[in-house]
Amino acid sequence: MRLLFTLLLLMSHLLATDVNTCQSCHPTIYHEFEQSFHKKSSIKEDKVHKAVWDKHPAKAKGDYNCAKCHTPNNTVHEGMTCVTCHTITDIESHPTANKNIYETKAKTLYSAQKGMEDKKVVYQEKSSWMGLVKETTGSPYHDIDYRNENYYTGKMCMGCHSHKQNAHEFDVCRTEMHGAQSKENNCISCHMPKVQGSATTIRQSKTHAFHGFSGVRNAPEMLADHINIVYKKSTNGFEIIVHNKAPHNLLTHPLRVVQLKTTLKREGKSEILKTETFVKVIGTDNKPSMPWLATQVVKDTMIKGDEKRVVTFDKELQKGDEIETVLGYYIVNPKALEQLGLKDEKELGSFRVLKQRYFKVP
Ligand code: HEC
Ligand code: HEC
Ligand code: HEC
Ligand code: HEC
Ligand code: HEC
Repeated sequence: MRLLFTLLLLMSHLLATDVNTCQSCHPTIYHEFEQSFHKKSSIKEDKVHKAVWDKHPAKAKGDYNCAKCHTPNNTVHEGMTCVTCHTITDIESHPTANKNIYETKAKTLYSAQKGMEDKKVVYQEKSSWMGLVKETTGSPYHDIDYRNENYYTGKMCMGCHSHKQNAHEFDVCRTEMHGAQSKENNCISCHMPKVQGSATTIRQSKTHAFHGFSGVRNAPEMLADHINIVYKKSTNGFEIIVHNKAPHNLLTHPLRVVQLKTTLKREGKSEILKTETFVKVIGTDNKPSMPWLATQVVKDTMIKGDEKRVVTFDKELQKGDEIETVLGYYIVNPKALEQLGLKDEKELGSFRVLKQRYFKVP
């Protein structure tokens, strides 16, 4: 019989912003998201964010202007939710910081999926009169629009991640836009790689896009493949070359410090060679300062996007020498820990390993 009818289960009430609604059908993604610093971006959950805010002059005026990125579209100042990202339609460019444009139509979410680039999926349940044939498409909870290009290039990340200027029209941080242009290699492909596990409980898939957003705070080891470290012998010593394959500064936040620590092992003895430090320090009057006071770059040795940084060692090597080199970072510059009242936070002030290499001189 050709008498089929369509059941639209979609309700027109407001799209719930409570992430628990999404948890029931996307449990794996939900649990990853819980560990991420998108979820923990608020004053309540991120001690570093709180420490900086506590010193910020806007606090005295009660003007929490960090909200547009750290606790967007909610009044309770919790971190980001699933809906925050999946309703971004476009990015508006502004000098101080870009702005997200959000979808206002209820239950319309945006996403990306290979092979679906020109489709919008509306939930439908089709069945025959007698209920003998039943077929469903889409999600029983929301429509999904796959046609927004910003979800394929990573541009939807750039409302919050592009740049931020302080009151002196000085760039406190900037992530280059060219990292959000290619459909093959962008913010999403590196920070949300495909990992094991189904994206939904309703429709089984082998993999899903990682929602822990690997970075400095969570799951940094997932990014190690995007950094290459090689060893090269030179005339009177050797070189360690660090290739940052990310399109942006190796680390972007002005509080971070990156270091390369190298040890030489010879005939059973260890000798610690020089430690190379990579930082971008901002400040004023040629001295470091808090971001809201900064008017200049005081020092910039940070490894840039796509850069191969050569670190030279004036140390003659012998056959059989072993070199151990470790690239790592501090979440908060040890020099700023005390000033921010974070001295007792062990994990914030300790050296964290990003990548280690071992070479033996032939
Ligand atoms: C009742 C179950 C259910 C609930 C609740 C639900 N979803 Fe879904 N969702 C699905 C199903 C099923 C699919 C897969 C649709 C398909 O493959 O055509 C899906 C797909 C998606 C996609 C697109 C996946 C892709 O293919 O790229 C996104 C994004 C999404 N959901 C986000 C959310 C968010 C955010 C919430 C909470 C506001 C939510 N979902 C709540 C069932 C649900
Ligand atoms: C335009 C968006 C935007 C605004 C507005 C914003 N931030 Fe951020 N913030 C970010 C992004 C993106 C990061 C992630 C790090 C990076 O990209 O360098 C971040 C990271 C941070 C961190 C590092 C947190 C960590 O986990 O170590 C601190 C501290 C911080 N912000 C403080 C603030 C304070 C305080 C305000 C308000 C006065 C503020 N931010 C306003 C986008 C923003
Ligand atoms: C080729 C892979 C790659 C691409 C593409 C990429 N990143 Fe990264 N990203 C990295 C690596 C590697 C790091 C440094 C390792 C770490 O943070 O653990 C990093 C670090 C970060 C951090 C943490 C910086 C800090 O100081 O806290 C943020 C935020 C970030 N990336 C955002 C982005 C955004 C936004 C884009 C798109 C414009 C992007 N990334 C594109 C590989 C990539
Ligand atoms: C920071 C932005 C951001 C947040 C927050 C976010 N997502 Fe996503 N999500 C994306 C992007 C971008 C994609 C497309 C990934 C891709 O193309 O591989 C995606 C993909 C998905 C997919 C499809 C996954 C796949 O591989 O098929 C589902 C389902 C989904 N998100 C659900 C959720 C749920 C549920 C939450 C909250 C627990 C959430 N998202 C929070 C940005 C986000
Ligand atoms: C609504 C604003 C917003 C959007 C949209 C957004 N981010 Fe973020 N992101 C932030 C803020 C704020 C932080 C810093 C949170 C903190 O540490 O307190 C952050 C942190 C990060 C980090 C560092 C995590 C860590 O563990 O150190 C990565 C990586 C990242 N974002 C990638 C992305 C990617 C990829 C997208 C797009 C799919 C995206 N973000 C979209 C606001 C945003």
